[in-house]
Amino acid sequence: MAPGAPFGDAPIIPTRSGRAPWTLRRRLVVAVVGLLALVSLVIGVVSVAILSASLMDGLDQQVKSAAERSSVFFGGGRPSGDFSIPTPTANDVLNGPSQPPGTLALVYDGSAVTAGYTDDTGAVVDLSNDQVTLLLTELDSAVQEGTTSVPFSVDLGGDVGEYRVLAQAARTGALYLVGLPVSTVTGTATQLALIIAIVSLAGIVLVAFLATAIVRLALRPLQRVTATATRVSELPLDRGEVSLVERVPAADTDPRTEVGRVGSALNRMLDHVDIALETRQASENKVRQFVADASHELRTPLASIRGYSELTRRSGQELPPDAIHALGRIESESVRMTGLVEDLLLLARLDEGRELEREPVDLTRLLVDVVSDAHAAGRDHSWDLDLPEEPVLAAGDGPRLHQVFANLLANARVHTDAGTRVQVALTVEGATAVVTVTDDGPGIPENLQETLFERFARGDSSRFRGTGGSTGLGLAIVQAVVLAHQGEVSVDSRPGRTSFRVVLPLA
Ligand SMILES: Nc1ncnc2c1ncn2[C@@H]1O[C@H](COP(=O)(O)OP(=O)(O)OP(=O)(O)O)[C@@H](O)[C@H]1O
Ligand SMILES: [Mg+2]
Repeated sequence: MAPGAPFGDAPIIPTRSGRAPWTLRRRLVVAVVGLLALVSLVIGVVSVAILSASLMDGLDQQVKSAAERSSVFFGGGRPSGDFSIPTPTANDVLNGPSQPPGTLALVYDGSAVTAGYTDDTGAVVDLSNDQVTLLLTELDSAVQEGTTSVPFSVDLGGDVGEYRVLAQAARTGALYLVGLPVSTVTGTATQLALIIAIVSLAGIVLVAFLATAIVRLALRPLQRVTATATRVSELPLDRGEVSLVERVPAADTDPRTEVGRVGSALNRMLDHVDIALETRQASENKVRQFVADASHELRTPLASIRGYSELTRRSGQELPPDAIHALGRIESESVRMTGLVEDLLLLARLDEGRELEREPVDLTRLLVDVVSDAHAAGRDHSWDLDLPEEPVLAAGDGPRLHQVFANLLANARVHTDAGTRVQVALTVEGATAVVTVTDDGPGIPENLQETLFERFARGDSSRFRGTGGSTGLGLAIVQAVVLAHQGEVSVDSRPGRTSFRVVLPLA
């Protein structure tokens, strides 16, 4: 299955903006993954915040303990009033008992400042002048504000980084400051954040795969429903006897599921359409049967009319000229009507799909006959016949094929002016015989060409319309007979050249 096309090869219809819309599968997977990412993010942020806060509390306690330990150098623990001890340096404080590596100290006795911090090995590292100035300012403001027992953060920049420090004023008058690096806290918090991120990411990837698989599995019944609908859409339902047997499989029509409801609705619709098609076909058959029956029934009375009028005309009795004219008209009209009825009957039978004869028909001989008939009927036209050396045999019904070419030649005769040249040619192309009937007459009017092969389609300028010589069934019969032979008929017409081309399968 192509990505983005979860339901077979159905084309994805672009939205109005021109971009293909998201498939249901993609939307569900993205929603699940997005929600999981959001929840993971919230859990991560909250966890890291709580941990940082609690570690910071711990650090503050450690800073306080460090300050406590350092107070010994500033007369802490001695009886009050005994201030005869010398002010220590930062080095003394840092090398004092159980001060952890990283400890920072600054001592200010009113005139001199000493400051430094221990590195990982325990060696004392001096601070730069800027850093000392910064710490002094902080120390001063803490003493001014009286917040000497509250640890606060100072960013010393560079390799030293951020420190949590506690400012103290000794009873000896010295001011001092002890601190511990915040990096221990941030390191642990960063580690936790990293672990949460990695675990969440792995979880999200896993969930994305699982969700894709689950959604695909869940949508599979919908795919089967789609397949059924697609198969139905490919059925030829437009004509003839059709049976709509395609249905969604019973397993996908359980109305307790969403897809099942779609499936059963589709099945109900197919039942409905099937019944409608059957009804339509039945009524169509009835109409056809009626036309065939009516045409058949009309043949006998028409033959009688013709017979009696002919008999009367030839009886030898003296008849007034008007009566003779009227009888002639009755006779010719009944001949025309017989032709019309025969055409209708033939069309009705072809519509019913009644099988035609299927035997080898010698097209060469058939065309020779048809052209010589046309020649006899149309002496004012010139007739050409171009035949191959070998006889060409088509599989079909001789009299019907005769009618096809007779109709085409009659058209070339009656719808063109005297002196028109008509060329009939027969060739073999692959497994088909091709007959072309070409004339250099006025051509078929543009507006008629589209409906040319429809029943009762005829040109307005038809010279025979008034006299009733043209019915517009000729080409309809040509097409119906040729199609019943699994052949093809086409026309190419412009003023000065009209060419009909009939393709028939060889015997
Ligand atoms: N060779 C042609 N040249 C010019 N017009 C043509 C030609 N063949 C057909 N037509 C036009 O096509 C119309 C339809 O032809 P069709 O054979 O179906 O009916 P018809 O000839 O009018 O009547 P029918 O053949 O039933 O007596 C004609 O009325 C005519 O206008
Ligand atoms: Mg005709």
